[in-house]
Amino acid sequence: MSIPIHTYDVVIVGAGLAGSTAARELEKAGKNVAVITKLHPLRSHSGAAQGGINAALSDEDSIELHEFDTVKGSDYLADQDVVELMCKEAPKTIRWAERMGAAFSRNKDGKIAQRPFGGQSSPRACYAKDRTGLTLLQTVYEQALRAGVKFWDEWYAADIIYKDGKVSGVVAFNIRNMEKAIFNAKAVMFATGGYARSFKINSNAHANTGDGLSIVARHGLPLEDMEFVQFHPSGLSGNGVLISEAARGEGGKLINSKGERFMDKYAPNKMELASRDVVSRAIMNEIREGRGVGPRKDAVYIDLTHLGKDLIMERLPELRDLAITFLGLDMIHEPILISATAHYSMGGIPVDIDGHARKNNSEFVEGFYAAGETSCSSVHGANRLGANSVLEALFFGRHVGQSILKDLDSLTLREADESDADTMIKEIETTLTRNGKYTVPELREKLQQSMTDNAGAFRTEELLAKQVKIVKDLRKQFHKGCRIDDKSKIFNTDLQEAIELGHMLDYSLFIVESALARKESRGAHFREDFDTRDDKNFLKHTMAYMDEDGEITLDYMDVTLGKHELKERTY
Ligand code: FUM
Repeated sequence: MSIPIHTYDVVIVGAGLAGSTAARELEKAGKNVAVITKLHPLRSHSGAAQGGINAALSDEDSIELHEFDTVKGSDYLADQDVVELMCKEAPKTIRWAERMGAAFSRNKDGKIAQRPFGGQSSPRACYAKDRTGLTLLQTVYEQALRAGVKFWDEWYAADIIYKDGKVSGVVAFNIRNMEKAIFNAKAVMFATGGYARSFKINSNAHANTGDGLSIVARHGLPLEDMEFVQFHPSGLSGNGVLISEAARGEGGKLINSKGERFMDKYAPNKMELASRDVVSRAIMNEIREGRGVGPRKDAVYIDLTHLGKDLIMERLPELRDLAITFLGLDMIHEPILISATAHYSMGGIPVDIDGHARKNNSEFVEGFYAAGETSCSSVHGANRLGANSVLEALFFGRHVGQSILKDLDSLTLREADESDADTMIKEIETTLTRNGKYTVPELREKLQQSMTDNAGAFRTEELLAKQVKIVKDLRKQFHKGCRIDDKSKIFNTDLQEAIELGHMLDYSLFIVESALARKESRGAHFREDFDTRDDKNFLKHTMAYMDEDGEITLDYMDVTLGKHELKERTY
């Protein structure tokens, strides 16, 4: 049966904040845009962002302070030109979102309300109660639809068409019935989100399986700084569901089994509002040293009772519901149980300041772009500040949309043909017919548990080397012996989850190989055997490549420094 070829000016994969914003920008400029998404757009993970979006709006704050906090938070690995651009454009981004229809929470004087977040010199996170991401996602999706963007909902993008240094389309199948199609375009943008699902305890949507990263890597293209996985301090105990930093921003106190407010040992100035990597490690340390609470002693308390019912109901209603639903604890009356949860991916598809994807340190892939969490621009360096991610997605979504618009006239359409779908068809057939002894849930569980045990918030040479071997063995078991039982064509989620597991295994190898080679501690990457930052040897970005046999080779790329000079990082 022949495979239909749909032709657009631009094809975007992912319908979260970055993807939908870029699509609207291009469609408004008269371009023909398709967005391919494996979900309904409003189920994109951007909608799970709770606490806020940063912008220096108040008289006490400044763009320079926002830049400084971001660079310091990044442990000086962020590229400062990119940080400067994002921070400068943040206030305009908020005003743009408001004009699009986003209703931010307001102060009594009518100004947009801003709350404190970790690692910040001033209350800077604009918010819509504790549903900021969802509010913005609804706004942007509505505006993209209004502009005429064509959303291909519940289509799974399985491959890019990459030939002679140029990307000219995407190959996808319809999850509903396995119909296949080729999407041919002059430009392709990936906005496929992050990769924290490879950890057992994580705050990510089920869909965050890092597909975009592995699809790109399988073509021999690099992934940057993959070792930097952020652990958010407050996931609900046991399942990692996010309890926003807004809870600490509004005054939540962290308490151990001895009743101590322990952050004074780790960050005496900022206390609970130190940056995320610092607070997460403090929590994990309390637990490791036997001061954990809860039935398994693997959590600490966050106490919000002193805030009172009115404030909690006004500003944190969603968080309260989550804690009641999952733990049966009402934060109005009692402390709730939290511990660190894998939350955000600083690494990703390497891009320049305008979203052009890199082929290596000095060359770019023609017609290929990325924005949002899947990209590494590197605006967050080794550790992202809370509320900079929604800003990144919204600002760079728009900015990269505009950058594609500028490039489009100089890009040519390479006509697709049916053979462009061969790799996807082979992957589907192999997955459906392989008859091995392993199941997807079994291998996925082993990957997630071992990544948490060996490549989590505390790392060592021994653990990481062990994890490299585990991931390589799991990849072999997957490719030789992973079977699925559902052979049907209608909503075959067994098949989809097997393909996703293949992606998780591939990018996990990038995480652990890059982490093993980085013999220092910086931001979210903490090595107990190299427990300080080593600017002499490691003030550089990791660029990792996978060959056809699945072996990873590493290269490094310079960091773009700027006016914020290297300093010891204390809070
Ligand atoms: O804690 C939060 O609300 C998460 C925000 C973020 O990751 O930026």
